[in-house]
Amino acid sequence: KIVPVIMAGGKGTRLWPLSRATAPKQFIRFIGDRTLFQETLLRVSDPAIYEPAIVLTNEEFRFLVAEQARELDLSLSAILLEPLARNTAPAVAAAAAFVRERFDDTTLMHIMGSDYEIVADEVYFDCVKKAATAAGDGRLVTFGIAPTEPATGYGYIEGGETLQSGAQVVARFIEKPPLAKAEEMLAAGGFYWNSGMFMFSAAQLLDEMGTYAPTVLKAAGDAVAKGLKDLDFIRLDKTAFAESPNISIDYAIMEKTKNAAVIPSPFKWSDLGSWDSVWKSGSRDEYGNLAAANTTLINTKNSLVMTHGVHLAVQGMDDIAVIASEDAVYVGRLQDSQEVGTIVKMLASAP
Ligand code: GDD
Ligand code: MG
Repeated sequence: KIVPVIMAGGKGTRLWPLSRATAPKQFIRFIGDRTLFQETLLRVSDPAIYEPAIVLTNEEFRFLVAEQARELDLSLSAILLEPLARNTAPAVAAAAAFVRERFDDTTLMHIMGSDYEIVADEVYFDCVKKAATAAGDGRLVTFGIAPTEPATGYGYIEGGETLQSGAQVVARFIEKPPLAKAEEMLAAGGFYWNSGMFMFSAAQLLDEMGTYAPTVLKAAGDAVAKGLKDLDFIRLDKTAFAESPNISIDYAIMEKTKNAAVIPSPFKWSDLGSWDSVWKSGSRDEYGNLAAANTTLINTKNSLVMTHGVHLAVQGMDDIAVIASEDAVYVGRLQDSQEVGTIVKMLASAP
């Protein structure tokens, strides 16, 4: 069986003002009844394939995680609490150290974020199966999505020789390239987007961490060993964890390892990172609008209108996002939605 490891500690600032410091995007209800975190939990809830999930999150979100799991009646293997944000590399290393202790080191881990929309159909589970086979052979496996535009917010993977498992050897892994480089790769072909999901054994990951990111490995290992158990929660030791550099798994390991493999993944995937991607992945009406309940649109096209508070009426506007929470409203062009994080930074530094 496979242990799902769900990373749910991100801030999601580009989805302001619905995504907030106290309840980031993975924990809020966008359009449907469930949060993205809950959708993620359900995707890994088949006991024939998966063990109960491990969730990694910040201290502050512990009750959101526990409550949202309880709402679905799902039990978790553990909730690992990070005392401070150090990005995904130490989080994954801590999960691997924990898995080695709780299960054993040949156990496969399926690492995933909690901010994508995935259609978990047969195609998806077939990819999971192939990934497990390749991971069992000692590979660090990623799920590669066919790119449709020169996005700069994703990692790119160049596929090489095809292995028996159906995975391809990764020739190169380029995390978040500049636009010119992304355009070049899109034109050249043979590249995938990194979906942000990985599959590997705990042993393999720990081994590669030892080679490419020893300070991360030491900090995370000590933080688990000195961690405090409190019900389902495991509080990683703060002093130990603080020794880790702030680095993502992509930069720390995936760009460097010689054992990466990619599963060409034709299932429907989108990263709900910005308002633009929420608009693209939703089901738009005949005018190209994605409008939530409690909104009125007149003579408006290709726009996203969502509210968790006041009623919103939009007239005579195209290609925009209008997003209202209880206490803030954002209005901007959809094409600028990568820049929303800047507003959050400004607000945070305002006197
Ligand atoms: N527990 C924990 N702790 N989770 C974190 C932390 C942390 O410090 N930082 C981020 N996360 C979570 C986020 O909530 C998200 O679910 C996931 O880890 C990935 O982090 P993002 O910040 O969303 O990464 P990204 O989208 O910029 O880039 C990654 O995902 C892309 C696909 O969506 C990379 O893996 C790219 O290569 C990839 O293309
Ligand atoms: Mg993301």
